[in-house]
Amino acid sequence: MTSSVFPDTVHWEDSGTSRIPFMVYTNEATHRKELERFFYRKHWCYVGLEAEIPNPGDFIRTAIGERSVIMVRSQDGNIHVLENVCAHRGMAFCRERHGNRKDGFTCPYHQWNYSLKGDLQGVPFRRGVKQDGKVLGGMPPEFRLEDNGLTKLKVTTRGGVVFASFDHDVESLEDYLGPTILQCFDRTFNGRKLRILGYNRQRIPGNWKLMQENIKDPYHPGLLHTWFVTFGLWRADNRSELKMDDRHRHAAMISTKGNALKASEVSQVARFKEDMHLHDPRFLDIVPEPWWGGPTAVMTTIFPSVILQQSVNSVSTRQIQPNGAGSFDFYWTHFAFEDDSDEMVQRRLRQANLFGPAGFVSADDGEVIEFSQQGFESKPFHRALAQLGGSDIGDTDHMVSETLIRGMYQYWREVMEAPE
Ligand code: FES
Ligand code: FE2
Repeated sequence: MTSSVFPDTVHWEDSGTSRIPFMVYTNEATHRKELERFFYRKHWCYVGLEAEIPNPGDFIRTAIGERSVIMVRSQDGNIHVLENVCAHRGMAFCRERHGNRKDGFTCPYHQWNYSLKGDLQGVPFRRGVKQDGKVLGGMPPEFRLEDNGLTKLKVTTRGGVVFASFDHDVESLEDYLGPTILQCFDRTFNGRKLRILGYNRQRIPGNWKLMQENIKDPYHPGLLHTWFVTFGLWRADNRSELKMDDRHRHAAMISTKGNALKASEVSQVARFKEDMHLHDPRFLDIVPEPWWGGPTAVMTTIFPSVILQQSVNSVSTRQIQPNGAGSFDFYWTHFAFEDDSDEMVQRRLRQANLFGPAGFVSADDGEVIEFSQQGFESKPFHRALAQLGGSDIGDTDHMVSETLIRGMYQYWREVMEAPE
């Protein structure tokens, strides 16, 4: 441990990752290095779902790390991801969250116009103005439209999910995920068309990595989330597995309920806490689906930008957009599948009440992340523990381990070149 109460640099106590310095959550210099190394180089980041932009000209504005980007469908049906920074004076020109632009994007400041593919098409007064028979001003003759387009990201899609990278040399998405996580990914996104049900957005005053950790932490759901326990969605007899990719950056928490809980059983399981009952038992009207192939919940963390959720009939993506070291925006996209019955869509929507900023379950996670950050800020020389299950890093067939968190920080230390 360093002697200063407010040290300048992050200090790891040993070569392992079961003791995590508080400063990895609070230090702005570390944060900027993370943005560069995880969000802007060598990684794929989630940008959205194809179903959000079904028609040519459709776009959404989102972010990769702390950079604003636009996901847009061009006239030929292809998807492009463009940086929302005007080539002229750098303005983040796109202000709408979503919309349709048949004629491309026009920056309001000086009306430079870009095609849906990000090419510069028009520059007002490029050739200057004519006065008294003379041409005055304008861009220099060597100025070429083709040299001044928007920054275009590399884009890939799989099963209706769109990823992009500022790094055009990034490995393929399949190699990036690795076979184990790819299997979890394909289980949900198996080629069926998706249907967007709606969004939740929240700003959580905590470091972005805490959200990755939260979904790599199977220790807390049965302890923190009293809703799960009270209404029987989490049980000690759940069969469970924790899995990682080879580099331990991505992970999956896979669990299978002992038996499917039917609405008629709610009154019985409510005995976990005698005086609490659901007024609307349909929140627990769970219908097993063939594509689950056994597990009733699979929570997949794709480092650094997204969490893929299947919790019984509720499916969503949860995107992480950092905001400095001490805050991030969390974007939930709830979806259904095109071939779902109306009843199943309603069921997915009802079960989505467990999640999001005010979710019966997820509200707890937002709060504990905020309060963890408060602890970190108050004593940056200290460290957190992730010792559950020893110091090993590897897949397990139970939930009583913090191995996924240790794995993520092993990868983090490797990429951040933070040996000490
Ligand atoms: Fe966009 Fe000038 S800053 S046109
Ligand atoms: Fe949680």
